[in-house]
Amino acid sequence: MNTNEFDLENRILSSSYTGEDAEAENSLRPHTIDEYIGQEKAKELLKIYMGAAKLRGDNLDHVLLYGPPGLGKTTLSAIIAAEMGVNLRVTSGPAIEKQGDLAALLSNLGEGDVLFIDEIHRLSKSIEEILYPAMEDFALDIIIGQGPSARSIRLPLPRFTLIGATTRAGQLTTPLRDRFGVLLRLELYTPEELASIVSRSAGILDVPITSDGALEIASRSRGTPRIANRLLKRVRDFAQVRGNGKITLEIAQEALRMLEIDELGLDNTDRRMMETIIRYYDGGPVGLETLAATIGEEAVTLEDVYEPYLLQIGFISRTPRGRMVTRQGYGHLGMAYKPKSAPEDGEQITMDD
Ligand code: ADE
Repeated sequence: MNTNEFDLENRILSSSYTGEDAEAENSLRPHTIDEYIGQEKAKELLKIYMGAAKLRGDNLDHVLLYGPPGLGKTTLSAIIAAEMGVNLRVTSGPAIEKQGDLAALLSNLGEGDVLFIDEIHRLSKSIEEILYPAMEDFALDIIIGQGPSARSIRLPLPRFTLIGATTRAGQLTTPLRDRFGVLLRLELYTPEELASIVSRSAGILDVPITSDGALEIASRSRGTPRIANRLLKRVRDFAQVRGNGKITLEIAQEALRMLEIDELGLDNTDRRMMETIIRYYDGGPVGLETLAATIGEEAVTLEDVYEPYLLQIGFISRTPRGRMVTRQGYGHLGMAYKPKSAPEDGEQITMDD
């Protein structure tokens, strides 16, 4: 484990799993598509595809779910399996080390079952090659023997549904991406959607909460249910020790201030990312790799974990020449905005003030 992964695991805002949270998260997961809040577009499409597959008595076509971490890809795949009335098998790209691991998983599936592969972009090339005939022809090609006497035999598989999850569809190889019939992009949630999720979760955890308290937690959760549910639990602790157990606006604000999460949910790394662009690169544009090296994070972490929310709230922009901090971003940090020439104009001009 490198330092960045370690930091990531320990960030309260991190949308990667930790043991206790993964357990609690399970109890908070919705079980039906109607209980699942938000992602209206994806849900509407899925309902049509699932309904049509059921009418035909067929399996659902393979589905690729992509979008930032923590938005409910695993939850959605469990709901799909439940709605289709089939079993769900869960694994991840890095967990499948040998061709035999995947062959065993595939050959144990039942008719119509769902195989969920998280972080599917991390499958090795040789394992991806097993997936192609499995996805396309529901067949497993196995090589028996070695050298000149080696021969290939084809074993039939049940008609299953592969659900792959990744942070960006572009991370997949083209042959793999092309074999998914359904590509669904999950979006960051609005504060109102997250407030409904927080209220629902508080009900399950038996914690009283006011609607402005729920909205306060929601507004600082960077569009991500996993973060909202985690913050809810920390604010609950605070309410029990410092208050009478009820989460109000004041309790939520005080707890989140102690957690050093600002009104928009930004933490130190978000602020460091923007401050570095401003201080060292005159507000940008600066290339992602250069920026990552300057602040000691991995480029992929900045791109997948931090950047989506900063882009969504308009604090940074992506240009062909790199990342820039916007006027709103300067404003949030309380720094004077120093406009430069638009990146498309070619030359960089630094304005003197
Ligand atoms: N918990 C986590 N994600 C959720 C969602 N999308 N809807 C309802 N509850 C959730």
